[in-house]
This record gives sequence, C-alpha cells and structure tokens, in this order.
Amino acid sequence: MTTTTVDIGYLERAKQGKFDLDWLNNSHAEWGVRATPSKVGLTLRDIAIGSYGEVPEHAPRRTMAPRGCDIDAEVPDIGYTLNDKVDVWSDNVMELYEEAVSRQWSATRDIAWSELPQLDDDLEHAMCQFATLLSEIEMLAADFPAKWLWRINHDFIEAKMFLCTQIMDEARHSEVFRKRALAGGGGLGKAIPVVETFLKVVLDAQNYDEGSALMHLLAEGLVLSVFRAGELLAPSPVEKRIFRLCMQDEARHVAYGTMHLRYRLERDPSIAHDFHAYLDRGEEVISALFTTPEVVEPAAILAAGGLKQAEEMGLAASDILRTRVIEEYLQRCDRAGLSRRGRMKLPAEILEGTDGGASYQSESVA
Ligand SMILES: [Fe+2]
Ligand SMILES: [Fe+2]
Repeated sequence: MTTTTVDIGYLERAKQGKFDLDWLNNSHAEWGVRATPSKVGLTLRDIAIGSYGEVPEHAPRRTMAPRGCDIDAEVPDIGYTLNDKVDVWSDNVMELYEEAVSRQWSATRDIAWSELPQLDDDLEHAMCQFATLLSEIEMLAADFPAKWLWRINHDFIEAKMFLCTQIMDEARHSEVFRKRALAGGGGLGKAIPVVETFLKVVLDAQNYDEGSALMHLLAEGLVLSVFRAGELLAPSPVEKRIFRLCMQDEARHVAYGTMHLRYRLERDPSIAHDFHAYLDRGEEVISALFTTPEVVEPAAILAAGGLKQAEEMGLAASDILRTRVIEEYLQRCDRAGLSRRGRMKLPAEILEGTDGGASYQSESVA
C-alpha cells in the first residue's frame, strides 16, 4: 500500500480502538533527550541537542523531515540543490534568528508619523528621492533569499529560518520608506536604471555564493552604512528613528553574509578567487551609483541640511558618507577573510580618502 492510499479498513479498526502504533516501532528518535531553556526562553541553541543538534556537513536526504527524527522510507525526495552545510551556514545563524524574532517592529505603530515635521521643499524632495531609492532596493533583499530558500536542504533549517526573518525585515523596510515618501507630501521620486541593473545582477546570480556575496556583503553592507549615518542624513527625529530601526535589522543580514563567507572560506580557501570575481563585477556595477545625480544629490542635500548649503559645500558633507561606506565595506571584507584592499573596482576619484586601492585606474580609466 502506498502512503497516499486511503485505507478505510484502518479507519474501521481505529474506531474500535485497535490502533496501529507501528509509528513507535523501531524508533530511534529522541526519547528522553530533554532541552533546558536558557534565561531568555527555549532558544534554537537550547534545542540543538542529541541527533537533532548534529548539523551534517552533507545532508544525507532531501526531505522536509527534521534532523534526528525517524524517516519513513517512502518520504519523497524534494529535490533540494543546496545540500552542503558550507553552502548556506554561518556560525551565528541561530543567534541571528533569535534576535530577529525578538526585535521585530512595526512601520505602522513604531514610527511617530504624526510628528513628521513640514520640511522645506528641497529637503522634502531629497528625502523622498532617497526613500524611493531605498524602498526599491530593500525588496531585492527579500526576493533574493526567497528565490533560493526552497532549494536549501531542510537539514539547514536554521539558515532557512533566518532568511525568512530577513524577508519579513525587508518587507518592512520597503514599507517604511514608501510610507515616508507618502507621509510628508513629497511623494515618490524617480527609479533609475543603475539601481535596478545591480538588483538584476544579484537576482540573476548563478549560485547562492555569488548572490549572497553581492547582496549580503556588498549591497546590504552599503545600505547598512547609510542607515548607520542616519544622524548625518535624517532631517528630523522621525527619519532618525526609521534609520535606526532599519539599521538593527540590516546589521543582522550583513552579519549573516559576512560570517557565511568566512565559514565558506575557512573550509575552502581556494574559492576566494571566485568571490573576488563576483565582487569585482558587483563593485563595477555599483560604482555608477556614486556618480548618479538621483543618488548623490539627495544624499548631499540631506547631509548638508538643505540645497543652498549643499551648493555651497559641494559634496563635502556627503563625501564623509562615501568614504565611510567604502571603509566599512572593506572592513567587512577583512572580517570575512577576503581582503578587497588594493583591488576594488572603483575609479580613483571615488576611492579617494579610502584604502580601497586603484586597480580600476590602470584597467578602465584612459
Ligand atoms: Fe533592508
Ligand atoms: Fe537587509
């Protein structure tokens, strides 16, 4: 009898109390293995005990069954394609999931929308263009994990669960920046090709390694640095709070990407070459952002505190942000074990004041 056959005979027997109980026979599951809650409650780390706690280097099956449970031979093959721990794992993934769950916030209730001040028109235009850009970018960081989630073997459920929290976070980030554009009367700004060209590169990545490096490390790293500079950019306490709340979410996504890359490289340093190639390409595409008026000018106006101030200062205020963004990216790469110092694919004028190197000069600047 196959597992999908309706067994009326069984129903009759069970009605008479003649249970099968075969599901208890030959059981190797975790009878007697008991998880102890820690101070904050029962965490993923707390239940990583017994055979459930053993995350295999290579998943022996491709089913949705939890690790450590008894698996009927007829459970179907789901067809996952990411079946090695190194494909998706990072040592901090359980803690990042717990943090994500405990620090969810609401873009509806937790932002004081009624206290949004009437800004002068130049600042409102700048903020709305910036919010449009961010809202556009944010959803990519949901689309990319969503595209790969179902391909990840269930034995690495913690990584899948963390990516689910990232998807929720990014939905909220898209939401909060749309709300900001529409709440102040400025409305949504302009979508530009350079942004979506980069987003498409991430979505079209040939493998999870490539997409994760481009998204978690490069793109989200840049966005995290922007959020971190919220004090510099925010025209009012309302935007400051938006940036701060988004920053704490973004820090988790970048922490996963950085530690995942590190985990990967520690186990196979020979693949550093591949990651350098991914980032070479990503940096080349993303470098155009630094010379795109729809990106540069809102940042300059917000950082200077107005259009007139920005016209007087030129890019002096936003240059602080540019160098900070690049430096923090380089530090992140260092932490991951993939130094990009001296080999970033950005023009010298953009790298000015940073330690990113200037290989682009000899290759691309005539
Ligand atoms: Fe985000
Ligand atoms: Fe993110």
